Amino acid sequence: MLDKNTIDRLLEAAKSVMPKAHVPYSNFHVGASILYEDGSIEVGCNIENASFGATICAERTAISSGIAKGKKTIKAICVTNLTDTMVTPCGICRQVIWEFGKKIPVVCSNKDGDYKILTISELLPHAFDLD
Ligand code: THU
Repeated sequence: MLDKNTIDRLLEAAKSVMPKAHVPYSNFHVGASILYEDGSIEVGCNIENASFGATICAERTAISSGIAKGKKTIKAICVTNLTDTMVTPCGICRQVIWEFGKKIPVVCSNKDGDYKILTISELLPHAFDLD
């Protein structure tokens, strides 16, 4: 279970990175934060590209930052945006998150800091697995 203090830390971190998003095509800013077992947090924002398919979502840039620092044990993920909608990770991000833990809680938030929490298995039932 995530306590309120942890959720607030994650929301604040995701919110703080959002302005850094590179979004010249959609102007849809997304911020993500990840909590690791050691209590540290990594952040990520979406990075768009003129070749639209090359765009990387905020969740995956955050995961990439953690991996590059040797961090793989994810305790929770948070994603936020600047609309009223409590944004949920896209399909590709769900599969990538699932790779690192089937029960990871995902805090899905909106511009006002409202949130809902779903586990990655709730978000991606019947995920692809090589086993
Ligand atoms: N986006 C994310 O960063 N995360 C999601 O989970 C959904 C979509 C980004 C990708 C693109 O830059 C913009 O939102 C609009 O699709």
